[in-house]
Amino acid sequence: MDYVALGRGGPKVSAIGLGMWQAGGKAWGSDVRDADCRKAMERAVELGINLVDTAEAYGEGHSETVMSRAIKNVGRDNVFIATKVGGWHLRPDDVRKACAASLKRLGVREIDLYQVHWPDPWGQVPLRETMKALEALQRAGKIRHIGVSNFAVRDMREARSHLSRTDLTSNQVRYNMLQRDVEKEVLPYCAREGIGILAWSPIGKGLLSGKYHNGRRPKDRVRSDEDLFKPANVRASAPLVRELRRIGKIHGKTPAQVALAWLLRHRHVVPIPGGKRPSQAAENAGAAGWSLSSRELRGLDAILRRTRLDTF
Ligand SMILES: NC(=O)c1ccc[n+]([C@@H]2O[C@H](COP(=O)([O-])OP(=O)(O)OC[C@H]3O[C@@H](n4cnc5c(N)ncnc54)[C@H](OP(=O)(O)O)[C@@H]3O)[C@@H](O)[C@H]2O)c1
Repeated sequence: MDYVALGRGGPKVSAIGLGMWQAGGKAWGSDVRDADCRKAMERAVELGINLVDTAEAYGEGHSETVMSRAIKNVGRDNVFIATKVGGWHLRPDDVRKACAASLKRLGVREIDLYQVHWPDPWGQVPLRETMKALEALQRAGKIRHIGVSNFAVRDMREARSHLSRTDLTSNQVRYNMLQRDVEKEVLPYCAREGIGILAWSPIGKGLLSGKYHNGRRPKDRVRSDEDLFKPANVRASAPLVRELRRIGKIHGKTPAQVALAWLLRHRHVVPIPGGKRPSQAAENAGAAGWSLSSRELRGLDAILRRTRLDTF
């Protein structure tokens, strides 16, 4: 496994992380099992992945509880725990209580990266109050680093202006070959400012793995409303998936691994693919440690320019 600094001078994390939303329950399908998710995390750590991402929102804390068992088995020091405070808990007192509840569920004394899951959806809590509460938690030794998620550049600027002793370590955003909005502003800003990026949905919720098509669609709650899986979008992405498979064959890699390697072009981007079982975690770990040639990247970019998805 390769390791990178998350943000300039930031903590050392694996080049690929593991997302644990899947461990939240059956929203990701009837094939989700606590034991498989726990073992996925244990396998990931065995292969050198240390960054594992969860949130209080995932199964109302169930994902954190599942993680706690894996943390015990692999050893606290081998995991960089990233979790999130939900958008309904942004008042200072709620931030403190949410953090205490996450620490308890995770069974640890300190969270490595505590992220604001999304900007206040109702615009009622001044960001200053939330950021000051996070800094207080850091001073108290409850969290090591402060991060945000789904923040636009203006939100990051404001969040940073309220931090007096520290800076944002990372912004966690949606980023994959088919959903690239962050390339316009967020990515360049974070690269310039030394803020790390955690890329969520890095394999397009499984679409870029090549196992889905209009004759075989995921049936779970998370993906039934997902724009990426609209029949027209699944059809439009087929040429890209074919090319991922062709390139993968050359390198002895799978389409999902090629899609993840495409994100690893950016040194400050750490993809956090979700895994439901050990085999997925292992496959995704195999996206690190090799790279696409510039010719392959150019070819993929040409296909992406021709790929038109129903807008979202
Ligand atoms: N901050 C946020 O707002 C936010 C939002 C979304 C997600 N996240 C985080 O980001 C993580 C990843 O994003 P995501 O779960 O949305 O999407 P993703 O990682 O692109 O897709 C994960 C899904 O793809 C399938 N998969 C995983 N590895 C595979 C492989 N090697 N081959 C074939 N299929 C594979 C699995 O589902 P099937 O096997 O059922 O196909 C898995 O549930 C989450 O776990 C969560 O931690 C954060």
